[in-house]
Amino acid sequence: MKAISIGLLGLGTVGSGVVKIIESHQDKLMHQIGCPVKVSKVLVKNMEKERAVAIDKNLLSSRPEEVLEDPEIDVIIEVMGGIEETREYILQALQNKKHVVTANKDLMALYGAELLQTATENECDLFYEASVAGGIPILRGLTDGLSSDRITKMMGIVNGTTNFILTKMSKEGRPYEEVLKEAQELGFAESDPTADVEGLDAARKMAILATLGFSMNVELDDVMVEGITNISEEDLEYSKTLGYTMKLIGMASRSGNNVEVSVQPALLAESHPLASVNNEYNAVYVYGEAVGETMFYGPGAGSLPTATAVVSDLVAVLKNLRLGVNGRSAISPQFPKSLKRSDEIFAKFFIRLHVKDEVGVLAKITNIFAEHGVGFDKILQLPLTDHGASEIVLVTHKASMAAFEQIKQKLNDFEMVNQIKSTYRVEGEDNK
Ligand code: HSE
Repeated sequence: MKAISIGLLGLGTVGSGVVKIIESHQDKLMHQIGCPVKVSKVLVKNMEKERAVAIDKNLLSSRPEEVLEDPEIDVIIEVMGGIEETREYILQALQNKKHVVTANKDLMALYGAELLQTATENECDLFYEASVAGGIPILRGLTDGLSSDRITKMMGIVNGTTNFILTKMSKEGRPYEEVLKEAQELGFAESDPTADVEGLDAARKMAILATLGFSMNVELDDVMVEGITNISEEDLEYSKTLGYTMKLIGMASRSGNNVEVSVQPALLAESHPLASVNNEYNAVYVYGEAVGETMFYGPGAGSLPTATAVVSDLVAVLKNLRLGVNGRSAISPQFPKSLKRSDEIFAKFFIRLHVKDEVGVLAKITNIFAEHGVGFDKILQLPLTDHGASEIVLVTHKASMAAFEQIKQKLNDFEMVNQIKSTYRVEGEDNK
């Protein structure tokens, strides 16, 4: 029986995993697809480099056209990363009527709509399960498993590096720089970890999740992003004292047909299922109107975990090939994009202030909140070592983001407030 030929773009961490899984799970693949699968060409930059997997050197090529234009190749697997050049290769592959599987979240977050459109025009599949949360089958979870439901909320811990850093800082009291270095050595931080720690990597994944989950074309620029670089030891301590755990939370919520998509460090209630997702693990919590709460948990990076998602996409392409239905699974968004305004986004907020330690200061501060109709869940006041100053920590009741911004402005202008030290959203106490 003739084997299906695969062209691989890239043979790094994920690419080596793909080769290993195709070889070691060949029986299972054959059982599902009905014919053997073989990697027949691999595009690499450096032909001489040592590889993490044994591979016939004759399969390697540094010339993209040898892979993209090979008439024997049915499917291109893109695991080389990068954006502009990679986009060209994928467009070319699709125009050459080759199905594409990619693990590239940067590319899909920026050019997903264009690439999917090109795939459909060329009757090709374009699948990208590995682009969000590595080995967790979350995209199929949304588009197949939950396709009958109306999803109203997705909360994700979708960046392993930042979850590792926050876990180690808060549970082991270790400093930020030291833990970041360890995450880089362990191989899950991006080569430039700025994208991890500034929240951009998570934002790309949330844009992809929101697009699929809400059937709306959510782009990277629609995602409000804040990273973890300003979190202090004091904030982590208060978080624990108040019964929360600090997490970088990707939030995608829908009310009616208006959505909010954001990434920010948040104080998450200890009772929320995401609060127990530690170290480099990822999880996506999904609330559907009919199903209620679900959570998808697993490794968000790593060679074999990410490769399982890639090869599962390959199986989906090849099953479609057998049925003659390639290029029909991309469903265009059902709804026009409609983003919530800041007065439509509601959350509880944590705020830590340094104030002058004078009679009536707490009352005056709480008054500012009351003027905007905002009350409190928790209040702490502690003396500071600075003479005449004290620290106030407040957790509000639910308030709109717009109201909270106005309150912050007033506090900034108030002469009894020395400094607003930090503010965070508080999430996970009401699950829907
Ligand atoms: N840098 C990413 C992370 C790798 O830390 O989760 C997987 O996308």
